[in-house]
Amino acid sequence: MPVVLGPEATPVPLPPGPATPLPASWEALARRIGHTPMVPVEVRIGARRRVLWLKLEGCNPFGSIKDRTAYALIRSLERRHGDGGPLTIVESTSGNLGAALAGMCRLRGHSLIAVVDPKNSPVNLAAMRRFGARIEMVHRPDETGSYLGGRLARVREICARENACWTDQYANPANPEVHFRQTGPEILLDAGYDTDCVFAAVSTGGTLAGIARYLRSQRPKLITKVIGVDAVGSIALCGRPATRKLTGYGASRPSAFVQDAQVDGTAWVDDAETVAMCWKLAAEAGLCLGGSSGAVVAASVRRLARDPDTSKIVCVCPDDGVKYRDTIYDAGWVRDQGIDVEAVLDRHDAAGLRFGGLVAATGRDVRAPDAPVLPRRC
Ligand SMILES: Cc1ncc(COP(=O)(O)O)c(C=O)c1O
Repeated sequence: MPVVLGPEATPVPLPPGPATPLPASWEALARRIGHTPMVPVEVRIGARRRVLWLKLEGCNPFGSIKDRTAYALIRSLERRHGDGGPLTIVESTSGNLGAALAGMCRLRGHSLIAVVDPKNSPVNLAAMRRFGARIEMVHRPDETGSYLGGRLARVREICARENACWTDQYANPANPEVHFRQTGPEILLDAGYDTDCVFAAVSTGGTLAGIARYLRSQRPKLITKVIGVDAVGSIALCGRPATRKLTGYGASRPSAFVQDAQVDGTAWVDDAETVAMCWKLAAEAGLCLGGSSGAVVAASVRRLARDPDTSKIVCVCPDDGVKYRDTIYDAGWVRDQGIDVEAVLDRHDAAGLRFGGLVAATGRDVRAPDAPVLPRRC
């Protein structure tokens, strides 16, 4: 039976949330991080057929691109503290980083205090708890609805009170460095020197800054442009602060890692465009991705539609959609937030935008098991 998304929606039957098993050892974990699949997806805009290359970071062991960051942050603290035994680590996290840090701390014998807020997905919170992290919930948002300031204040208190060390994803150079050493080279290896653009979402900006620095280091042979994708309402890349409903990408403080000189442009994507693109990818390509991936694909499609000379775009897709079953993939939740997906889907129809299937297998089943049908086609 087809699943209906939109005003009369039934929830999309996504696969159950991952009860991520711990790898057998720290060494086994290190081997499994990265080398994520790069999947070509057909996109038609009117009569033109194009291909987007999606790098699926949800295939990392703890389910997101933050696995790379978490590993690098822990190693940087271990080096700073002389690899001298178990540490008490504290970090402010909106979810993915916390789940990865918790699993890795468990494997490594460290303790984790995860400072979180009510917007964290239940799937990530459950993973943090399962791996033994202590959860510190911050309840009071600022005037734009962001909890980041409150989370950082709590981290500083904990550091002072409990002799904990802060991985500090917002300023630790190990964050962009791992994307310079790993993610950037993987993109070039998978996609090749004829890539026109790479689109990457921003929260701390570590992913974007690391990839951009690596690809620029390959100039003049490589002329690939790197575009940051930020949420409307986020100030990570100098936007104007406003309320936004989706989590995962965007931030209520400027990125310490991304300087204007490093990136070739910024695309702002609002909540409705993001949700619409997530629904459309699930319905038409059978790919169930997280919100930031929807935003990255939305920005990339805009570029394809505007610029017929751009032919090869890589979309860095930070996670898959399982964690978002009660938010982005729940039409009731979307409606309650006042996110008007219908208007965006109308625009997609008017532009003749449609995804074909996956062009190749991924090696891991990341498809929505029962492709949903968009409302206007029911
Ligand atoms: C879902 C998602 N999207 C995008 C990002 C971008 O990460 P950053 O800019 O911190 O490297 C992250 C990291 O938290 C994420 O979890």
